[in-house]
Amino acid sequence: MSTKSESFAKDLDVTMEGQESSGKVYRLEEIAKHNNEQDLWMAIHNKVYDVSKFIDEHPGGIEVLLDYAGMEATYAFEDVGHSLDARDLLAQYYIGDLHEDDRTEKAATAETEESGSSSGSGMIMLGLAAAVLAVGAVFMLGDRT
Ligand code: HEM
Repeated sequence: MSTKSESFAKDLDVTMEGQESSGKVYRLEEIAKHNNEQDLWMAIHNKVYDVSKFIDEHPGGIEVLLDYAGMEATYAFEDVGHSLDARDLLAQYYIGDLHEDDRTEKAATAETEESGSSSGSGMIMLGLAAAVLAVGAVFMLGDRT
């Protein structure tokens, strides 16, 4: 058991080493150092994974993983159309998050797009309301004659 002050100091240390603790933030520069068969990190969807122990088990082979060793691999990962099982596997290799300044626009917009589309559906609702009003007006006019 570590003392309180010790674990507090550990929290502040975002440089790395302790892989068991999540909530860490890594720069691409740091991830890039882990780029070989023995020590392989990857960033996928703004999360960082240490897949060193998975390399030999990867059904897609060692080579493709080495191609993206120490890199942002979101596009490559998605391009293959990995199964849900593959996505679930990722969780056990998660070691932290990608630093905000290193996040690619692509990965970042995946989340913001949704809020953008909600304003789009707002416009659709407006259009629907206008259509209902128009139909109502036609009925009212029809009643009068
Ligand atoms: C690092 C995390 C990754 C995990 C956990 C992972 C896991 C898996 C799994 C479980 C499969 C079997 C098929 C499936 O379930 O979808 C697979 C297949 C494959 N993966 Fe990955 N993968 C990873 C990264 C990558 C990357 C970065 C590439 C780069 C191109 C890649 C390329 C492939 C290919 C080519 C196949 C074979 C697809 C096929 O046979 O149809 N994988 N992977």
